[in-house]
Amino acid sequence: MRRVEDDIAYTLLTHDEIYDKVHEVGRKIAEDYRDKNPVFVGVLKGCFMFMADLIRCVDIPCEIEFMAVSSYSGTSSTGAVRIQKDLKGDINGRHIILVEDILDSGITLNYLKNYLKVREPASISIVTLLDKPARRQAPVYSDYHCFEVPDAFVVGYGLDYNERYRNLPYIGVLKPEVYS
Ligand code: IMP
Ligand code: MG
Repeated sequence: MRRVEDDIAYTLLTHDEIYDKVHEVGRKIAEDYRDKNPVFVGVLKGCFMFMADLIRCVDIPCEIEFMAVSSYSGTSSTGAVRIQKDLKGDINGRHIILVEDILDSGITLNYLKNYLKVREPASISIVTLLDKPARRQAPVYSDYHCFEVPDAFVVGYGLDYNERYRNLPYIGVLKPEVYS
């Protein structure tokens, strides 16, 4: 029987490491946003596992929305961001927290931040599970991130390679032969 694990060269972050860190960041956000009733906006699909774990550690009143964008095909960005699912509700005067799986070139989050700014929210901040600062092209940073990762293509815990490996419960690096 084939398992997703068979394609993983090595584990970068174990499920336990992720769990501990996500709890720490969730509690920090809860402190910072007390009495602000923030709106968590998850960027699909990569955010789904991270968002589900994070939000359970944020024990303050808040709301949850999702957007869907696409910019990637395989392991490299096409540079063009397309909004596939937009927010329905009004965010004017609201505190927005964008939740993404990874900040890589920064093109996606830079685009999204500017796209939402026009609707005049009270604030927009960014929380990402992973940050790959070495790859940054756009002037954007995460206000909260759990881990910095080296410049390798990673999968698991929501992150995909051509839509696969999202179900891996930890973050791993794919075997090179998987790309060919
Ligand atoms: P950016 O626009 O280059 O910052 O990329 C953002 C999106 O690219 C993320 O939300 C991911 O979906 C995808 N991405 C970037 N790096 C990786 C990676 O190492 N593994 C899986 N997806 C990635
Ligand atoms: Mg992706």
